[in-house]
Amino acid sequence: MKKQVFLVASILFLIMLFVLEPSRECPAMVTGDCEACHALYPGMMEEAEPGKPQQYVLKNTLCVNCHSNTDRDTIKILGGARVPVVKNVVTPSHILAGGNFYYVAKDFGDRKGHNVDAVTSTDAKFMGVPPGYVREYDPSLAGYNTEKPLTCAGSNGCHGNRNVKDPFESIMGTHHSEDTPIDGSTTAKSYRFLKNTDRVKGVLGLEDDEWNQNSSSKKHNEYSESIDLLCASCHGYFHSRDNTGKKSPWFRHPVDIALPETGEYTIYNPDVQPPNDRAGIRTYNPDAPVGREKVPGLPSDEVFPGEDLVICLSCHMAHSSPYGSILKWDYENIIAGEEGKGGCFICHTGKGE
Ligand code: HEC
Ligand code: HEC
Ligand code: HEC
Ligand code: HEC
Ligand code: HEC
Repeated sequence: MKKQVFLVASILFLIMLFVLEPSRECPAMVTGDCEACHALYPGMMEEAEPGKPQQYVLKNTLCVNCHSNTDRDTIKILGGARVPVVKNVVTPSHILAGGNFYYVAKDFGDRKGHNVDAVTSTDAKFMGVPPGYVREYDPSLAGYNTEKPLTCAGSNGCHGNRNVKDPFESIMGTHHSEDTPIDGSTTAKSYRFLKNTDRVKGVLGLEDDEWNQNSSSKKHNEYSESIDLLCASCHGYFHSRDNTGKKSPWFRHPVDIALPETGEYTIYNPDVQPPNDRAGIRTYNPDAPVGREKVPGLPSDEVFPGEDLVICLSCHMAHSSPYGSILKWDYENIIAGEEGKGGCFICHTGKGE
């Protein structure tokens, strides 16, 4: 038996070496010291009985563990690969684009993030129900199961194939696959492994190779409105064109609409004056990012009123943030403050009208 296991392991290793070899030029694909990951998390590739799918102990816990860090760094090295860290045990030095689960895992953190299984317990306010869930907006076959916790991936998660229940199976093969170009054709070739199901096109975007660590107006992820559809699969109400404004029960801000070419929006990001030769164009601010109709090939520091879009991530973080409602800024203080700077005011400049 031992011999057989060794044989299978050796063959697998050789095959993988062969398959992974051409990938050297492709930095985003996981290669490197197999053992560093596969022995550290032994459940990751437990042998399957013939004819049965591979079994993974711990499942969702594995995603969280490998993507966590005990110190402040938000990119860690494992087996020669760079792992984007989405949960630090101590205050993170940077917050990557998706946010950091550190904040929701802290005491009274419920409202500061998605209460993902293996990070923290069920949200006491929403009791595991996605606010504004509309079944018709959810392209997955099973739909969201409110009896089960929210997970990183799988049918109750955001990453991977939502038609596959198990988080690990839903993302299987993705980490070692060619992941460019980002065309939404497979999970690996979708922005950050976000492709709701095999039947819909994945999210399109441009991936900063440091996940927005050290981001600036010139260096950042680029988004498109396809990411809003992903959020809408669990929060359809917030995406529907009706019910905008402060009507109960929720504040529902318009999304997927272009910044108007008139009024206050013509001076988006008023703190940064664009050069004189770029009249009519504003400077990108990663604190209130806009979506693009067509994702550019390189990050652009230009924002075009009349074209660029308001998206969910203009205001929210995806995982968890230091602020309530997973907002990118302290809403209470912005609204109460006299200053009129930052946050909502990056777009609502109150001027030019
Ligand atoms: C940085 C961590 C890391 C390293 C290093 C790593 N792997 Fe993996 N591997 C993963 C993760 C995570 C998964 C499961 C998720 C997935 O398949 O996307 C996985 C899945 C697999 C799978 C099953 C899915 C598939 O793609 O077929 C095989 C086989 C595999 N790894 C082999 C290897 C081999 C061989 C090496 C060394 C050349 C290696 N891995 C190095 C993280 C790693
Ligand atoms: C053994 C460690 C390990 C485990 C376990 C693991 N990952 Fe990863 N993950 C990595 C590494 C390394 C990368 C960086 C690969 C890259 O640059 O694309 C990564 C990248 C990602 C990314 C970002 C891809 C991108 O475009 O940058 C997502 C999303 C992700 N993993 C989700 C998951 C989910 C969901 C699970 C559980 C089902 C999981 N990971 C389990 C190591 C791991
Ligand atoms: C797979 C389903 C799912 C997807 C996809 C999803 N969410 Fe959620 N969301 C939930 C659930 C469940 C809750 C309620 C429990 C909680 O807060 O953890 C929630 C809560 C929230 C909250 C309220 C948090 C609070 O505690 O006040 C916000 C804001 C939010 N989501 C925004 C987003 C955005 C933005 C996206 C897209 C990037 C998104 N969600 C995608 C399931 C989802
Ligand atoms: C212009 C900023 C902005 C945009 C764009 C935006 N939101 Fe929000 N969202 C907010 C604010 C502010 C709150 C908190 C409202 C409050 O606490 O009264 C909120 C609250 C929420 C909540 C929590 C509801 C609750 O009961 O606490 C969810 C869920 C949510 N948003 C989802 C989304 C989704 C999904 C999108 C994209 C389709 C989106 N939001 C776009 C600003 C925005
Ligand atoms: C990325 C730019 C952007 C950000 C950030 C932003 N808004 Fe807006 N907001 C818009 C645009 C564009 C409109 C629609 C204007 C129009 O239709 O003429 C709008 C409209 C509104 C409206 C009118 C609602 C309606 O029914 O038309 C309110 C209220 C509002 N925003 C509040 C806020 C608040 C509060 C925040 C911060 C939490 C915020 N906005 C952040 C761009 C933004």
